[in-house]
Amino acid sequence: MLFLSMTWTVERFSRSKKLGGNNAMSRGRRTLLLLCLLLMASLLSAHTLRADNSIRTDAKISYDPQTHVFRLAGADISYIFGVNERQQLQSIYWGQRLPDADSIASVHSVGGSSSFDPPINATQQEYVAWGGGLYVTPDVKVTFADGNRDLVLQYVSHQIDGNHLNILLKDVQREVYVTLSYTVDAETGILARSARIENRTNAALTVEELNAATWNLPAASDYQLYQLTGKWAGEWNLQRQSMHPGKTMMESRRGSTGDEINPWFALERGVSQGEQSDDVWFGALGWSGSWQIAIEQDYVHQTRITGGYSGFDFAYHLAPGESLHSPTFYAGFAQHGMGEASRLLHRYELHALVPQRANWRPRPVLYNSWEATGFDVDEAGQEVLAEKAARIGVERFVIDDGWFGQRNSDHAGLGDWNVNSKKFPHGLKPLIDKVHSLGMDFGLWVEPEMVNADSDLYRAHPDWVLNFPGRPRTEERNQMVLNLARPDVRAYVYGVLDHLLSSHDIAFLKWDYNRNWSEPGWPSAALEDQKKVYVDYVQNLYGILAQLRVAHPGVEIESCSGGGARVDLGILQLTDEAWPSDNTDPFDRLAIQNGFSYAYAPGLMMSWVTDSPNWVNGRATSLPYRFLSSMQGSLGIGANLNQWSAEEIQTAKTFIAQYKLIRPIVQQGSLYRLIEPSGDSPYVVTESVSRERQQAVVFAFLHSSQQRLAYPPVYLRGLDPEVNYRLKVLDGNLNGSVPASASGAFWMHYGLHFNLRGDYEAAALLLEKEGVQ
Ligand code: DGJ
Repeated sequence: MLFLSMTWTVERFSRSKKLGGNNAMSRGRRTLLLLCLLLMASLLSAHTLRADNSIRTDAKISYDPQTHVFRLAGADISYIFGVNERQQLQSIYWGQRLPDADSIASVHSVGGSSSFDPPINATQQEYVAWGGGLYVTPDVKVTFADGNRDLVLQYVSHQIDGNHLNILLKDVQREVYVTLSYTVDAETGILARSARIENRTNAALTVEELNAATWNLPAASDYQLYQLTGKWAGEWNLQRQSMHPGKTMMESRRGSTGDEINPWFALERGVSQGEQSDDVWFGALGWSGSWQIAIEQDYVHQTRITGGYSGFDFAYHLAPGESLHSPTFYAGFAQHGMGEASRLLHRYELHALVPQRANWRPRPVLYNSWEATGFDVDEAGQEVLAEKAARIGVERFVIDDGWFGQRNSDHAGLGDWNVNSKKFPHGLKPLIDKVHSLGMDFGLWVEPEMVNADSDLYRAHPDWVLNFPGRPRTEERNQMVLNLARPDVRAYVYGVLDHLLSSHDIAFLKWDYNRNWSEPGWPSAALEDQKKVYVDYVQNLYGILAQLRVAHPGVEIESCSGGGARVDLGILQLTDEAWPSDNTDPFDRLAIQNGFSYAYAPGLMMSWVTDSPNWVNGRATSLPYRFLSSMQGSLGIGANLNQWSAEEIQTAKTFIAQYKLIRPIVQQGSLYRLIEPSGDSPYVVTESVSRERQQAVVFAFLHSSQQRLAYPPVYLRGLDPEVNYRLKVLDGNLNGSVPASASGAFWMHYGLHFNLRGDYEAAALLLEKEGVQ
């Protein structure tokens, strides 16, 4: 089509020239022009083919000294702002990439709508301090020792280094500096922004708010805001609401990320609720402590998104010469709806953030007996399970809670990280050796940030927990939170883990965190430093994880938090996967996994096959249904293998072997949510397409068929329309009329017709490009 319209252009061009008489083109020139146009056409058609993914993979930052305009470009996006006449950084544009040749005029502040409405509020600034009549959300707020609380930042200088930009701002009077940092990703156009405030005055000041960035969107009244909310065993619910003037505050005051709301957002322009259409701006915070994201539509309908440390109970004392760094706020733009937004985020996480970014290894199939044995772990019992796990194809065997101290229930033992000698009389080594001899690697559960009152650690160091002296210490799950901000606690926790990893051959830690903070006091710190606990705790957590990874480079870590309560782009830079929910019911999981996928890559999501009926809700499902639900993420087995029949063992073997074939596609591919879980529909379909569009995997689920209605046709996406894909049914049924091989166009437009009937039925298919081994 594009080719035809290009040749038509050549025709018309030559004819008009001819009609003009004098300048008829030579044949040679015409051929050259035709070749150029063909080249352009093929580039443009490549553009069209790949429009759903990213088109360009370059990044560029420039500054125009005439107009004072900064242009950041990466992949398909442009992000543009300028320095206005008030020396403020003013946002100009964020969206589809603009050609470099298009000039952008210098920018001027926007007047208020009345004489008592200072322009500082209507002007969309990149980063604005509280001062000078600001009423919209500030990025930073301070109190000086002399009582002054006014801070007004102006541009001073900047530095460009490849795809990285630093901009220095300074208060109009005082020696308070803020450095803004921008990095633009060449593959996805996702920007990473953060800020650092530095006190160069000769008196202390207190930072009361510090955000990483403000993202500004064009004025419009048709934004839809998406958020991920939940609770224990019911995490990752996608919420959608229309934006209107006013402010929506998303936050966690829990001391960590929580399942109540995740530090992720998306704003879609328009009303189509599209997986495929509409402009979407999305972002997520890289911070695992208390956080906030304010989404504000101001009185002229401009939308600003400001995120960083939670301002609640926040105060960070900065002595002269000291500085404070904000978390990093990541954000991107997608032209093709929510589907593309999450695919960009997944790609960014996998190639730019997670520890394995440079060298992704498929996530191994794991076994964990938590749901089967609870705290009753011992050498003999675990060895039996290990043998069975190895037989079905498991690659990693993990001991969960209960292996240490007096840990026979959740009432005691946390903090005492010595192997329980009754359960493991010879230590862990014989079991680890056995696991290795079976061809698996070994993993261990830890919850290093916590302590039970009934533990040797607490008896020795009751002052190590978060507390206010003389006040009650609230327990959740019978445990308290160790104050990791304290240097001695940090050293203890690192020492324990380093010793465990040095004295055992351990490949994996399941790092659990089973409660939120209460009474967040740090009595041993100087009074003015006590609230630093919100920052220093998390920095020390990151420090321990980073130090462990350096000292034990082979060890992988899962971020688990009583379900999916601590999943964010901060912890994911130091851990290899996340546990999304304690709810392992395969039907509930379809919705949980779907929500998770809006913000985080399926390859980072641990998904267990457990026993039926499920402990959460008593629901009975078949083993194939359970496998297919879990195979959409990183597969684990959490069932009691001792109770599986020979037939079930054989079924598991088959599914695990199939999973190993498809896991690179599921874990690293592009995810298309073809039919999303919804209370109104009994159908769910996902599709994952490999990076080069060589293969695709499709999972289809039926809750319950009604009124003899057929499963709706499923139209695939993201395939190469012009090549043939062979179809392989991994499990379940298709209607007999489906061809064994057909073009990508066929699968995308004619579609697939599943033959699923009954309750909790599922199917899975693999499509492979013809000629690919
Ligand atoms: C909560 C986790 O989410 C579970 O998987 C399990 O590890 C328990 N903690 C152990 O106490």
